[in-house]
Amino acid sequence: MRKYEQDIAKVLVSEQEIQGAVRRICREIENDFKDSDKKILIMGTLKGAVVFMADLMKEFNYRAEIDFIKVSSYGSSTDSSGTISLKSEPDRNDLSDYNVIIIEDILDTGNTLHWLLNHVKNDLHANTVKLCALFNKPDRRKKDIKIDYQGFVIPDEFIVGYGLDYNEEYRNLPYVGILKPEIYANK
Ligand code: IMP
Ligand code: MG
Repeated sequence: MRKYEQDIAKVLVSEQEIQGAVRRICREIENDFKDSDKKILIMGTLKGAVVFMADLMKEFNYRAEIDFIKVSSYGSSTDSSGTISLKSEPDRNDLSDYNVIIIEDILDTGNTLHWLLNHVKNDLHANTVKLCALFNKPDRRKKDIKIDYQGFVIPDEFIVGYGLDYNEEYRNLPYVGILKPEIYANK
């Protein structure tokens, strides 16, 4: 078996930097919701946001429920298809009692989140919806989307690790890196 380290050309964001961002984001969210009397639902997007979601929810100090939604916009390549399909819904189909915080791994073209924000607001009737994305790649944006909480703005490079995959692998790296070019070439 190959070790992941052999395939990484460069570490872009270290484990320590990510943990610092998780703590900062939690304090921002707590500050925004401190006077709210609605329930909080932390809604992670599968599968990319699971690692970030797990760290974030442990750090978060207020009462909250969690759930997941699964949508897909990427095939096996590194380019967004623009076509969104809903793979699984959260348990509740009426979120009018909830302030929802959508947790995403990365905001790239914005196609996925544009669809998702609309779905959670208009189909699931959330009281409020905020967006929290660990990474933001503004260079490739196609849809205008407001990020309420973000970790890092990154250049237009394909990243893996900390939940983010290339062909479903590399999600379990504890940091975020860039793959060696031959990994794509050997595909
Ligand atoms: P968007 O719809 O183009 O904004 O893409 C969002 C989704 O594409 C993310 O949730 C990721 O699953 C995936 N994605 C976008 N950029 C990257 C990347 O650099 N590495 C891994 N996955 C990515
Ligand atoms: Mg994703």
